Amino acid sequence: MIEVEGLTKRYGATVAVSDISFQVQKGEILGFLGPNGAGKTTTMRVITGFLTPSEGSARVAGVDVVEKPLEAKRHLGYLPENPPVYPEMKVREYLTFVARIKGVARGEIKKRVEEVAEKCAVTDVQNRQIGKLSKGYRQRVGLAQALVHDPDVLVLDEPTAGLDPKQIIETRDLIRGLAGRHTIILSTHILPEVSKTCQRVLVINQGKVVAEGTPDELTRRLQGYETVLVTAEGPAPEIMDRLQQVGGVNLVEPREAADSRVTFEVHAEKGQDVRADLARAVVESGWKLFELKTSGLSLEDIFLKLTTKDLSEEPAAAHAAAVQ
Ligand SMILES: Nc1ncnc2c1ncn2[C@@H]1O[C@H](COP(=O)(O)OP(=O)(O)OP(=O)(O)O)[C@@H](O)[C@H]1O
Ligand SMILES: [Mg+2]
Repeated sequence: MIEVEGLTKRYGATVAVSDISFQVQKGEILGFLGPNGAGKTTTMRVITGFLTPSEGSARVAGVDVVEKPLEAKRHLGYLPENPPVYPEMKVREYLTFVARIKGVARGEIKKRVEEVAEKCAVTDVQNRQIGKLSKGYRQRVGLAQALVHDPDVLVLDEPTAGLDPKQIIETRDLIRGLAGRHTIILSTHILPEVSKTCQRVLVINQGKVVAEGTPDELTRRLQGYETVLVTAEGPAPEIMDRLQQVGGVNLVEPREAADSRVTFEVHAEKGQDVRADLARAVVESGWKLFELKTSGLSLEDIFLKLTTKDLSEEPAAAHAAAVQ
């Protein structure tokens, strides 16, 4: 539904986006994750036809955004970083105005405005001036205007920025509810956002894609080994020895002890699932097994790994590890 190929955008000597390629399938939610200045907004502005690329191309629903901007825009709804809402207009009046300029058929406008107002939960403020709404409500109005012509593709630039926790949860629920019917790209530099809202993540740093995958895939690819946490009751040194003997296990370290229970961190060969063998080793030795779970790098760790200087100095290595 969205195809970006070899996209580069330069502002004078600044390369904001450098040779980015990716695709988004119909109905998918793709998250752009990256620190400030990574190139998220720039990429989104190219996709939505507000900026022309220096090199490369972007297609939306098969339509090239540079060659056929008007046709591409019909498939697109865009919530920019700072939503262009007119403070003196009333919500309903504004949505009606946007529906008209986006070419919604005259007879359909009233129905569409009512539908999106309902969907974005702004019906109760529809007769209020936009400038007097809270930030959360204004953001919902921004989403409603992006949706009013029922576009296939939604491009949402930091849709939850500046919202309070309750509004963030509501907005995420709303966005998740839109997937399937709409194809969505959203940008964020907030980590929990991508794992909570997106099915796939593109990590961007300094204008380049440094990793791509589901949050789970990224965790697995970037970690050199599998980690399992085993909590058991019994003589700690013996348990440790026994766990160490399980095939595929490289390292066992005690992590915490409470009462008579000890939790061990077990590192195993990458790609090996040693959980069943660990469980058997504990139980067959007559000790009590309380918990056994895999533990990965948090998305936070991954993000840091991918965007800190160490790795960005070796982009080829990071890329090879992360993108397949
Ligand atoms: N109009 C412009 N003129 C010159 N440089 C620009 C312009 N817009 C963006 N840049 C530069 O391009 C780079 C990418 O900016 P962009 O706004 O795309 O980042 P971002 O990932 O959206 O960041 P943020 O998280 O802060 O919104 C930055 O180095 C920025 O300074
Ligand atoms: Mg931005």
